[in-house]
Amino acid sequence: MSDKTQDAIKPWGGRFSEPTDAFVERFTASVTFDKRLYHHDINGSIAHATMLGKAGILAAQEVQDIVAGLEGIREDIVAGRFEWSVALEDVHMNIETELTRRIGITGKKLHTGRSRNDQVATDIRLYVRDEIDTIGKELSRLQQALLLVAEREAETIMPGFTHLQTAQPITFGHHMMAWYEMLERDYGRLMDCRTRMNFSPLGAAALAGTSYPIDREYTAQLLGFTAPTRNSLDSVSDRDFAIELAAFASLVMTHLSRFSEELVLWTSSQFDFVDLPDRFCTGSSIMPQKKNPDVPELVRGKTGRVNGHLVALLTLMKSQPLAYNKDNQEDKEPLFDLIDTVRDCLKAYADMVPAIKPKKENLYNAALKGYATATDLADYLVRKGIAFRDAHEIVGKSVAYGIAQKKDLSALSLEELQQFSAQISEDVFTVLTLEGSVQARNHIGGTAPAQVKLAVAKRREELGKRG
Ligand code: ARG
Repeated sequence: MSDKTQDAIKPWGGRFSEPTDAFVERFTASVTFDKRLYHHDINGSIAHATMLGKAGILAAQEVQDIVAGLEGIREDIVAGRFEWSVALEDVHMNIETELTRRIGITGKKLHTGRSRNDQVATDIRLYVRDEIDTIGKELSRLQQALLLVAEREAETIMPGFTHLQTAQPITFGHHMMAWYEMLERDYGRLMDCRTRMNFSPLGAAALAGTSYPIDREYTAQLLGFTAPTRNSLDSVSDRDFAIELAAFASLVMTHLSRFSEELVLWTSSQFDFVDLPDRFCTGSSIMPQKKNPDVPELVRGKTGRVNGHLVALLTLMKSQPLAYNKDNQEDKEPLFDLIDTVRDCLKAYADMVPAIKPKKENLYNAALKGYATATDLADYLVRKGIAFRDAHEIVGKSVAYGIAQKKDLSALSLEELQQFSAQISEDVFTVLTLEGSVQARNHIGGTAPAQVKLAVAKRREELGKRG
């Protein structure tokens, strides 16, 4: 980054009688981070110039020169040949100043009927829209991965937990589908955010609109927006879309953090439920036996910064008077960081999930411990005509007996079980098995392998329809 403090002539310098303090120049500049908007800034400028031509505000030749100049600048930025200047404050003035240097006085006409306020509002929306599409693709890829594992493990039995205590047997596939559902809602939120933000602020100018005969419908159309925004003051000051995206990001990270927490627990030697391939783990420099689940841990940890960015953006906008305030320049770093973080976390998960290997025997044995089929015994007694509360009591006593004998319910003999209720007969053993327990939960949203397979098929069909 060059510091052309001496030679840069500020596009707004007309009313100033002394140069900007060197520190203030750096303090107020945003180019170090907002240069990443260059593609969208150039696209916005091309649309604006094209519209000025159509409206007869610029001559056709002038529009051509501007567009060619901007495309040349874009090429140089992409090639790493462009020299950014802190003295020129932000991405917008860097590009505009360079345009004028290249094509002369015509470059100075680009900003007709426009302000940096509607320009930046347009740029960020265009940028966010692209990033939403990338994030949406990674999210869908992760959902595909979950369907793959859910289908593969539809019959794999594991303990289901409440309070992190063994509750009832479930299938591994069913557990995968729980994460799928969380992500499905996240995807919906992401798309809602896209729909609501996709309006063009161009033409709002500084805050009040412009006196030129501009065509806002045309620029909106050129840039792929649904329509122009409806109020110029709101257009330059609104950052709701950034907050909405941050709220989406916080939720999806919260879901990934829960997913991560389970993977961290499950890969521990205490649980030993799954294996993560080596390529998603790292070792310890001191303890040779260690294989740490770094990817899940890091994703869990990154949730913190994303939540922080949501609070930062909310606080940034709180109590801001209309319309644009320089405060808004502070929207970019949290926004960029949360976008990068969410995109990368989703990518890591989409790559990793298909490689999760459940340790079937350990999962099965873990489900055998902890009296996971106690509810099934109670339901069995209810079917034999006993009231649920009495059944609950009978099973409680059976479990206490099993604990004393160090035996699972399914390991008790018929005579032992009959001590607690005469209603128990030989057919009890089909409900006391783990297989019988999961198969019995055969309804929409239940854990039965048949339901999991059905859910996978339906979700796969829905996912296939996504653009
Ligand atoms: N760099 C500024 C931002 O990020 C661009 C808009 C500046 N507008 C202004 N009137 N100072 O918000």
